[in-house]
Amino acid sequence: MFILLIAVFLFPLLSCDFSFKGKTDSEEPNSEKPGSEKPGSEKPGTQEPDSWKTTQPLHEPYKDYFLLGNIVSPGDLANDRFNILKRHFNTATAENAMKPDNIAPFSKPASDDWSYRWTQADNLVNAVNAAGLPMHGHTLIWHQQTPSWLFAGDKETVLANLEKFVTDVAGHFKGKLISWDVVNEAMRDGLTAADVANANWKNCLRMNDNGWNKAIGPEYIEKAFLAARAADPDAQLFYNDYSLNSFTGNNKHRAVYNMVKDINERYPDVGGRPLIDGIGMQSHHHLNTTPESVEFSIQLFSSLNVKITISEMDIMAAKGYGNGLTNDWDDSAAELQAKKYAAMFRIFKKYASNISRVTFWGLDDRTSWRASTYPTLLDKDYNLKPAFQAVANPDNF
Ligand code: G3I
Repeated sequence: MFILLIAVFLFPLLSCDFSFKGKTDSEEPNSEKPGSEKPGSEKPGTQEPDSWKTTQPLHEPYKDYFLLGNIVSPGDLANDRFNILKRHFNTATAENAMKPDNIAPFSKPASDDWSYRWTQADNLVNAVNAAGLPMHGHTLIWHQQTPSWLFAGDKETVLANLEKFVTDVAGHFKGKLISWDVVNEAMRDGLTAADVANANWKNCLRMNDNGWNKAIGPEYIEKAFLAARAADPDAQLFYNDYSLNSFTGNNKHRAVYNMVKDINERYPDVGGRPLIDGIGMQSHHHLNTTPESVEFSIQLFSSLNVKITISEMDIMAAKGYGNGLTNDWDDSAAELQAKKYAAMFRIFKKYASNISRVTFWGLDDRTSWRASTYPTLLDKDYNLKPAFQAVANPDNF
């Protein structure tokens, strides 16, 4: 314990500029050998403890570009996690607390007076707003994390459920959120060029694993947007999905383009503007994601004159989750990850007039949904990773 204390207090003094910034490829790697560590314990690029308290707020360099966000959960409000959020980000998204299965009644209500479970989400939204951070709503209509009774019954019943749920929830939070993910992850994976030919999108929707589409059909998408626009006309309404960067064997970006184009052409003026305000590119990336594949889709979606959000960004940098990565978490993975973040942020800055918000999906590598792949900007002890420095200064990285 004594040795540990000495190490914790003396190490930062002995190596006061241990930041990754400015290091070159030829420099000696971190003197703390990753190989001698327990998996997930120590980490490359570590800086002095609590440097998140003194380093420039991460959102500062982006104040003229777009909002910079991270996720928040009810358990974050009473500890340092909330202080990190408030210092480094200027918008927040609830990781889980605003999903249907945390808000909707557990079972089908006997009357039209649905007893929603608002308390947890209300506390979260109020605390985040009181801290001065505008909040994004995630998510209204999704095939996951949704009580199954909402999908049960004939088309008329399920459509009535959808419209009531969206109306009630968007209405409840009216004035407290800047935007909503109205529909989440509606497109299936592995779409071929033939699937998206002739501007098709309806046959690209998930079917067997999507209770909404199964009961209502493709019109469930516009019905959800129409109900949300009516309930909260000032909130920006987004379609949100993953794997929207363009890569071989994946045409989800094209299906989403076809859908948003079609719906906005049919609904050009709903409350003074087209029905769908924007597209959320979740951006759960890995070290092999190419910046070009991201830039291609940003250009494609920009041509629709809708806003783009990078809505759930992380970059997996070590093996795990069957992501095809074979490397362990070490200095070289940390450096590759930092470079990937920098390359992505250079693109986001280039297209800032089309991008309204960039939100990370995880405050730190301990609590990320993909913790084993070290995908975030802070390590498990909230030390700044090289990736943090890369986002803080992508042009010089
Ligand atoms: O709250 C329960 C807890 O009571 C229980 O003991 C525990 C046992 O497994 O589960 C807890 O719920 C978990 C929940 O996260 C809260 O931690 C669920 O099992 C787990 O499935 C859920 O995972 C979330 C996932 O969405 C569900 O699909 C992740 O935290 C969340 O980061 C993730 O977020 C999604 C976005 O909403 C949409 N895009 C993809 C993204 C990543 O999957």
